[in-house]
Amino acid sequence: MRHVRTIDWVDGAIEMIDQTRLPDELVTLRITTVDELIAAIRRLAVRGAPALGVAGALGVVLARGDQEAIARLRAARPTAVNLAWAVDRVAGLPPAKALRAALRIRDDDIAACVAMGERGADLLEGDRLRIMTVCNTGGLACVERGTALGVVQTLHERGRLAEVLALETRPLLQGARLTTWELARMGAPHRLVVDSAGPYLLARGGVDAVLIGADRIAANGDVANKVGSYALALGAERAGVPFIVVAPESTVDAGTPTGEHIEIEDRGAEEVVSVRGVATAPEGTRAANPAFDVTPHDLVTAIVTESRVIRP
Ligand code: MRU
Repeated sequence: MRHVRTIDWVDGAIEMIDQTRLPDELVTLRITTVDELIAAIRRLAVRGAPALGVAGALGVVLARGDQEAIARLRAARPTAVNLAWAVDRVAGLPPAKALRAALRIRDDDIAACVAMGERGADLLEGDRLRIMTVCNTGGLACVERGTALGVVQTLHERGRLAEVLALETRPLLQGARLTTWELARMGAPHRLVVDSAGPYLLARGGVDAVLIGADRIAANGDVANKVGSYALALGAERAGVPFIVVAPESTVDAGTPTGEHIEIEDRGAEEVVSVRGVATAPEGTRAANPAFDVTPHDLVTAIVTESRVIRP
């Protein structure tokens, strides 16, 4: 499969796939200012923890030393630690070094995803694996290959993938819009399921492993990831199915002791009371919209990074 880079530095600007337009059309955005980048991050044109890290790093280059702009960029989304981590790594460097450091973060992500794919595929036992996943953890959430979906891709390349059950991932449908798009491009067999079917399908016995990504992993192994992950972890525990988190070392946040200390982004009600601009609830309906949840470490079978397997 040809790799389309989700985000890159091209001729002095950031180029990124506008993920809000998928699966309808593949549109590339060209971003030349930090304000444009912050808007793109907030509306999830670029999303997924590793891709947000690369966006943050390249955004510091666009900021050209403007500390106020860098601070706003760092805070554009609070849960995925990769954004703040990458901004901090590049901020403070002189311009020539900043670009080199940002490109290094991009290249490290490409290599890390290859390594996670291999390590994760090696960890799983069985030849015809049925994998359940939530949100989008593919190349669209990173630069080229993905984290959890990178493991799926490696399994598929090795002829060991039977099927992926992808959760829709309301409210913004990253699973329905993005993961199915990526799986189709890979030629990997898959079916889409509504989010609330996840735990029951695990109980019914049709899944060999749950693979998810992470936005932040606390020092004790608690995992913040897309809302719905916790329900899958509970269902997997009950069904005796391995629940495996795949994320780069940059997502492991030693400075956050437990999941309780992770800031969970709450987003607007409009995402819940409508689907792609069409109202699904009476006008004026209020909503709660946590974008992520926290899975306690005792429900996590293993965390796979580019350099190790952690068993919390
Ligand atoms: O709100 P999003 O789409 O940025 O949420 C993304 C996720 O929750 C992913 O699972 C996570 O960032 C890991 S991506 C490899």
